[in-house]
Amino acid sequence: MVRLIGKKTKIAVFISGNGSNLKNLIKVSKKKKSNFQISLVLSSKKNAKGLIFAKRNKIITKIFYYKNPLKEDKKILKTLKINDIKFICLAGFMKILSKNFIQKFAGSIINIHPSLLPKYKGLNTHNRVLNKNEKYSGCTVHFVNSKLDSGEIILQKKVKILKTDTSISLQKRILKQEHILYPKALQKILS
Ligand code: GAR
Repeated sequence: MVRLIGKKTKIAVFISGNGSNLKNLIKVSKKKKSNFQISLVLSSKKNAKGLIFAKRNKIITKIFYYKNPLKEDKKILKTLKINDIKFICLAGFMKILSKNFIQKFAGSIINIHPSLLPKYKGLNTHNRVLNKNEKYSGCTVHFVNSKLDSGEIILQKKVKILKTDTSISLQKRILKQEHILYPKALQKILS
């Protein structure tokens, strides 16, 4: 697959918001044993908090609003090429990538989603899970294909739902697990 022997794979992380997964991936990427380095952070929002972590770590950042994928795809692909990006991690990226873009990076884009896929694809996951009185939720790292949250699953982590859970408390506990799961999945597929 994407393996470059003896080298760390250059990845880009796409974000739209808080960037806690990004922050955590940056931390893990700095470990000696890590097989990836984050060379580019792309945000669909100019005020995304995650951009602060990227800048603090001297990682190149770019803003693409992705309002017109047809026009923006070309620019993004060019930026990825210039920065020698071999792999893309979506981390709280709230835009849907075009089919064309996904095809160009086929097999080299992964995403983290805060549910046990294939259950609860899309937005507002935690509220929907609680409304259905589920006993468990969790998070999933999966390959990105042209259907929303439907690509091949790489790793999942189950999280027990407590009687006292609100969508906020559940979101917090799942996010903690995301921070363990995402680097694990990345390390797995790049090895
Ligand atoms: C995470 O919970 C991630 O799983 C979710 O957005 C949050 C981003 O948090 N992603 C999706 O819902 C994608 N459909 P972060 O910005 O702190 O990493």
